[in-house]
Amino acid sequence: MSELDDLKVYGESDVGWCELTLPNETVDDTGHPFVQETGFSAADPRVPKRRVYDDPAVCALREHLRAHNGIRGLEILEPREIERAARIFFRDGFVVVRDVLNTHELARWRDASARALKQILQIPGVNGRKYLTESYRLPHRYSYGTSSASRHLLHDPVWASMIDLPTTTPILTRLFGGPDYHVLGAGGDLCLPGAIEYQALHSDGDREHFQMPPLRAERARRLGVEPRLRGGIEEQPARTLQLAVERTPPVITINFLMTDMTWENGPIRQIPGTQMRPGAAPDPTDEPEWMRLSTLVGAPAGAAIFRDTRAWHGGTPNLSREIRAMPNVEYMAPWYQEERGFRPAMPYEIWAGLSPHAQRISMLTRLPKGVWPAGAGVMHPLANERRAAKASGGKLPPD
Ligand SMILES: [Fe+2]
Repeated sequence: MSELDDLKVYGESDVGWCELTLPNETVDDTGHPFVQETGFSAADPRVPKRRVYDDPAVCALREHLRAHNGIRGLEILEPREIERAARIFFRDGFVVVRDVLNTHELARWRDASARALKQILQIPGVNGRKYLTESYRLPHRYSYGTSSASRHLLHDPVWASMIDLPTTTPILTRLFGGPDYHVLGAGGDLCLPGAIEYQALHSDGDREHFQMPPLRAERARRLGVEPRLRGGIEEQPARTLQLAVERTPPVITINFLMTDMTWENGPIRQIPGTQMRPGAAPDPTDEPEWMRLSTLVGAPAGAAIFRDTRAWHGGTPNLSREIRAMPNVEYMAPWYQEERGFRPAMPYEIWAGLSPHAQRISMLTRLPKGVWPAGAGVMHPLANERRAAKASGGKLPPD
């Protein structure tokens, strides 16, 4: 029996911990392994030397994490605490809210997450490795979004059904200053047991927008940002501008937790208050230990993390025997149009079955009737294979 036969993204699993997949090893577009020294998939200089559950260095790291991992006093909110969620989100650049998914939604998304992951993992690795690593990512870490040849999973009815929930829409409406925001995409990420590397701290995409077009300024005013006047003259224009940029994130991503985040299973790390930092996050050789331990331990399955994607964050080691999956939905501000890389990804037929609010916020990502998003349905770790699937046209591939 294969470890993939009854794959689940919660509870103990035999998946992961492939010793033949060397520490820090990523692959290029074609699957050729190499180690990247800088950037998003930069090598972790402090990684244990072997990807083995009982390796002494892995055990030492596990004990360190057991004692120290997690933000002290992490606030975990109820969905009804909308104002408090906004205060924390604008302060820290993220906020954790529990019970966002009900039992039925959590079960559906767990099943769908396992189904999509199985497609990725069933492609055999090379030279004895259990799996193919995703192009330009660290081993045992995958993105549901970028693994899809269409770049998103909005063609999947389960992902699409989560874009408008009674627990998330009121908070999003508050954070964006109104209900007229847009769906940007959907995907998420996961790490397998044995993802022993820290992923470099980063912001998602090129989100450091300091321009203030009129629509953004208007939105900031609606969110309560007003110039301080003295004698009719603005007192501190730089302060007003900073506050306006801070309160108007271009993109908010909601990550949904399929498992409890424990000290051991690769909880996401978030560095509070970094959503407005124009400089780059420290690279792995410079990152202080307190940042490596600044993780969301304690956030329970069914919770959501609302993230200003500008805030520094990164993956952490999964030294457990449990897959840590976090599917997501990404939203953009009404004034913001992503110039690079935004492609409609939701089939009309999926759109037609959504709630009225979900339909309104998905208009930009909706495709014309009968058009299938190119590549949708193909999940593959290698960039070249995804390109080929996409180039083969907008047809649904055979199952
Ligand atoms: Fe990220």
